[in-house]
Amino acid sequence: MSRRFLLAFATVGFATAQTAPKQQTVWDGVYTDAQATRGEMAFSRSCANCHALATEGKIPLVGDLFWKSFSQKTVGELLEYVSNNMPNGAPRSLSGDAYQDIVAAMLKSNGFPAGATEVASNMVADAQIIPKDGSTKLPANALVRIVGCLAKSGTDWVVSSATSPERAERARPVGEDATHALGNRTIRLKFVLTKLDPLVGSRVAIEGLLIGADGEDGINVTNVTRVAPKCP
Ligand code: HEC
Repeated sequence: MSRRFLLAFATVGFATAQTAPKQQTVWDGVYTDAQATRGEMAFSRSCANCHALATEGKIPLVGDLFWKSFSQKTVGELLEYVSNNMPNGAPRSLSGDAYQDIVAAMLKSNGFPAGATEVASNMVADAQIIPKDGSTKLPANALVRIVGCLAKSGTDWVVSSATSPERAERARPVGEDATHALGNRTIRLKFVLTKLDPLVGSRVAIEGLLIGADGEDGINVTNVTRVAPKCP
C-alpha cells in the first residue's frame, strides 16, 4: 500500500518536471505588427534625430550594436533601459505606451517575428534576447562575469573550470558564485593589474570585457573577487 503511494508520488514529480515551461524568447512573437507600426511613428518623432532603426547611420539600433548591448538580456530590460535613459537628455518624457511601441519597432527592425500579443511591461519581463540558433555566446567587448579556479599558465593568469561568460549586470542571488556548478572552459586573463598570487587555487569571480566573441582571446579584467578558498 505505502509502496504504491510512493510510486504514484514519483510519477507526479516526473510529469511536473516534463512540463516545466521553457523560457520565452524574442522568437516567440512578443509584439504585434500594428504595435510596431505605431512604434515606428513614435520613433521618428522622438528618436530619429540621433538614431537609425537600421544597421547603419546615426547610432544604429539594429544589428551588431544591438547584439553587443542586448544579447542575453530580456525585452523587459531593453524596455527599462530605453524608458530610463532615452531620449538622451529627456528620460521618461514619453508615455509608457510609447516606449513599449518603440521597443516593438526595434524588435521588428532586428528581424524578430511578430505575434499575437503586444510588448507590455508585465508580458516581456522574461522574454530573452538570443539569436535564432539559441547560441548564448556574447560578442566581443561585452562586460561579463565568469567563475572558476585561478591558476597560472606560463606567465599568464588563467581561470580553469570556468563557467561560460555571462552578462555582468545580471542580478545574482547572494552566495550563488560560491556554490553553483563550474564549467569546462579555460579563459585567459589580460591586463591584470592587481597581484593575484595569494588567490592561486581559490574559486574566483572575474569581471571584465570580452576579448573576441565568447572570450576566445581572453578577458580584459576589471575586477577579481575570491568567492571560496578552495577550487573546484
Ligand atoms: C539627443 C540624441 C538622442 C535621442 C533623441 C535619443 N537617443 Fe538613444 N542614445 C543617444 C546616445 C548619445 C546614446 C549612447 C549613450 C551611451 O552609450 O551612454 C544612446 C543610446 C541608446 C541605446 C543603446 C544603444 C546601444 O547599442 O547600447 C538605445 C537602445 C537607445 N539609445 C534608444 C533610443 C530611443 C528608443 C530613443 C527615442 C525614445 C532615443 N534613443 C533617443 C542619443 C539619443
